Amino acid sequence: MDMQTHPTHTSYTILGSTGSVGTATLDLLRHKGVEPGQIEALVAHSNVEALIAQAREFQPKSVVLADEAGYPLLKTALAGLDIEVSAGDSAVLEAAQRPSDWVMAAIVGVAGLLPVLTAAKRGATIALANKESLVCAGQNLMTAAKRAGATILPVDSEHSAIYQVLEPENASQVDHITLTASGGPFRQSSLAEMAQVTARQACDHPNWSMGAKISVDSATMMNKGLELIEAALLFHMPEQNIDVLVHPESIVHSMVTYTDGSSLAQLSPPDMRTPIAYALGWPMRIAWPAPRLDLATLQSLTFERHDPRRFPLLDMARAALRLGGGMPCVLNAANEVAVEAFLMGKIGFLDIARVVAEVIEHALAHDASSAVQSAHDIEDILMLDKKARRWAVSVVAALGTRVSHAPKHVEEV
Ligand SMILES: NC(=O)c1ccc[n+]([C@@H]2O[C@H](COP(=O)([O-])OP(=O)(O)OC[C@H]3O[C@@H](n4cnc5c(N)ncnc54)[C@H](OP(=O)(O)O)[C@@H]3O)[C@@H](O)[C@H]2O)c1
Repeated sequence: MDMQTHPTHTSYTILGSTGSVGTATLDLLRHKGVEPGQIEALVAHSNVEALIAQAREFQPKSVVLADEAGYPLLKTALAGLDIEVSAGDSAVLEAAQRPSDWVMAAIVGVAGLLPVLTAAKRGATIALANKESLVCAGQNLMTAAKRAGATILPVDSEHSAIYQVLEPENASQVDHITLTASGGPFRQSSLAEMAQVTARQACDHPNWSMGAKISVDSATMMNKGLELIEAALLFHMPEQNIDVLVHPESIVHSMVTYTDGSSLAQLSPPDMRTPIAYALGWPMRIAWPAPRLDLATLQSLTFERHDPRRFPLLDMARAALRLGGGMPCVLNAANEVAVEAFLMGKIGFLDIARVVAEVIEHALAHDASSAVQSAHDIEDILMLDKKARRWAVSVVAALGTRVSHAPKHVEEV
């Protein structure tokens, strides 16, 4: 099937091309039939084999590995092709600076912040999957985008849904928005069962196939917490006007309720290519062989409230958003460190919430709170991110055991 992207998009950059969102994006561009040289840059961290295969297939103008160790292999494998090859963090920023008009921001974690900011400052259309950059520096990113005339299109399925049904002419008549959440693989597990889960189980999401970090975030429901902060920034919505509803089938991807009592929702089968295709075609719609929704086969859609006792991180994120300043950055940094420690088997699943709670508590303490409150420009935010990571690393080290504990400070946060 022929696929048209928006006619003004003639060149593409994929930051995080080897990941789950990156490969889904390239799948859509494959359907579209991009020409050699139409992809300005493909950027990955260290998966050199996957990047070589992508470069050979798509013939981009440039490829970049953040991790310099893979550079010799990449360079040798692509010798003879008309593709620039580079490596290192500064090369990643140079790739974001290259003059493509559509950028997929799909690097995972706060590592994606400076590349997306670079693309925003040159006025690109940015399909934003990297939620951590918005959580940490949302105001800076939105301001930079506005100044440069950049367009930020949310790729998270929930925010894409809201973007699609939020009528600009009725923005002042929005009563509230509702983010839906699958509830993850442990929606029905007891705390005792959750204390024992492995990284493999946490990454085995019932509806979505995603990278390891966001899979664990989904399992703890921190993903919904990050999305809550993301929604507040993207849609200028006060925290108390953002509701979260667990919807295990992941068909209703979020909704907007207006003051006249109407709720508008976007529905589709859970496939990230649908919100990515929306961002590729925006402001038009494009055709691709998407799975079609069949409600008669599904028969029923269910909704429920989350259990704050088993999933405290969603409420911690809400608290961080209310506290404001650099607190969302602290929350995100602590979570990134804790999730990595969990994936490496250093701490248990329930310890992730414990690490985040203790780091937030530390950030609220007298000596740390001024750094949190004064984190406005990007340098301050990156410094705060580093500090919060150090605090989190010391909490992880102090836990010093693989045995999980129920989070200690959840109530207070
Ligand atoms: N997956 C989803 O369905 C989904 C849905 C909504 C939002 N998101 C968001 O999209 C982002 C990506 O998620 P994902 O699931 O696609 O993650 P993923 O599968 O882990 O992929 C991450 C990508 O980022 C690259 N990367 C990591 N660190 C980097 C660095 N320092 N510099 C340059 N590239 C780096 C990785 O390269 P290597 O492969 O070489 O490591 C990989 O290409 C996350 O922020 C996530 O929250 C994902």
